[in-house]
Amino acid sequence: MQASPPHPPALRAGLLGFGVVGSGTHSVLTGNRDTIRARAGCPIELTMVATRTASRARASVQADVAVLDDPMALARHPEVDVVIEAMGGTTHARACVLEAIAHGKHVVTANKALLAEHGEEIFESARARGVSVGFEAAVAVSIPIVKALREGLVANEIEWIAGIVNGTSNYVLTQMSAAGRSFADALAEAQALGYAEADPTLDVGGGDAAHKLALLAAIAFGGPPRLDAVHVEGIDGLQATDFLHARRLGHAIKLLAVAQRAEGALQLRVHPALVPRDSLLARVDGRMNGIMVKGNASGVTMYWGAGAGSRETASAVVADLVDLARARRQGAQVAVPALGFHDAALQPPRVGVFAGLCLRHYLRVALDQPEGGAQVLETLARLGVPVTQGAQGRHTLALITGEVAESRITAALDALRALDGVQVKARLRVEDLAGAADGG
Ligand code: HSE
Repeated sequence: MQASPPHPPALRAGLLGFGVVGSGTHSVLTGNRDTIRARAGCPIELTMVATRTASRARASVQADVAVLDDPMALARHPEVDVVIEAMGGTTHARACVLEAIAHGKHVVTANKALLAEHGEEIFESARARGVSVGFEAAVAVSIPIVKALREGLVANEIEWIAGIVNGTSNYVLTQMSAAGRSFADALAEAQALGYAEADPTLDVGGGDAAHKLALLAAIAFGGPPRLDAVHVEGIDGLQATDFLHARRLGHAIKLLAVAQRAEGALQLRVHPALVPRDSLLARVDGRMNGIMVKGNASGVTMYWGAGAGSRETASAVVADLVDLARARRQGAQVAVPALGFHDAALQPPRVGVFAGLCLRHYLRVALDQPEGGAQVLETLARLGVPVTQGAQGRHTLALITGEVAESRITAALDALRALDGVQVKARLRVEDLAGAADGG
């Protein structure tokens, strides 16, 4: 009689937190169990959950899943191979993740703040212990951008990344632009839909996008996440009228996260920007995220998908679990280095000086008298700021400049503010990378 093949042992997962991410992960793992098992080559079993909302978790999980109230006990539990950190925050989450790593557990997390702030310590601990830290869900949830950069584009020198990576702020901008909603109403709706962070100022202030950019840049360019090096501006100061002026000038307004290598240095920045209305990024609306990557061999590639949501995040969490199960089948602990580079094999590029950044700019100025428009244009010309597009009404001038250094536009704005009868109401950068769908 032929012996039946041995059953590969299950990958045993312990889940820290049962909120939006944790409950979604449970739902996907149970709902898609057979397909996941077939793809992973072994069952992926949720053996325990640690959460402050134990009654909610107990009502959802099967009876054989232990529900604990002590996350540290889960992090060191012998019946857990991989800890899924879905508790959020950075203090307890850091302690639990380091404890899990110290006990030889792999970690999968959607926590971009944790990895952007403590990534160097966490990735180094994991490397030293020979375990992996999966974080596909930490950037643009359902879009497999970590895998794309770390594996699919592995052959490339990455030239730049330009993305919309915060679903909440993109939802708010879309509502303000298309439906004329107020900033406050649109944000309240995004919060009610579960897209926003516990502290939504992280979304609209650009901090969440900065966390994600720091991670993307580490994978694309080497070195640890460098959150301190990211220049951050949010969308909280935007006025509805600028969406109208931008549209008339052929642009949409998006919150962009950009990492760009130029002259040997790396620019890392998050800020609202005008993008050409016919560009791919301009068409990324609602809670969706979109990321463009330019590699020196691949040219421009573009990734689009949900940037927030429970099952959407779980899709990426489970992908990391399957990676682990597959690596284990091959007898390996870790298949691909977490940040895409082996050890310190590559000197990461230095971070560039922001004042030297050269972009086009959108300006909106209020004029007491229509003649003030000529004064504005003369002042800009005198200070070496070319104007390429403009539209003037009786009391408003909206224009787009040619490329100028940050330091020059700052000096020009100071000069405009000193003019009588002229008030600078808005200044936004114009991002031309976003129009580079032709590979330019
Ligand atoms: N608050 C985040 C967003 C959730 O809106 O994009 C996903 O990271």
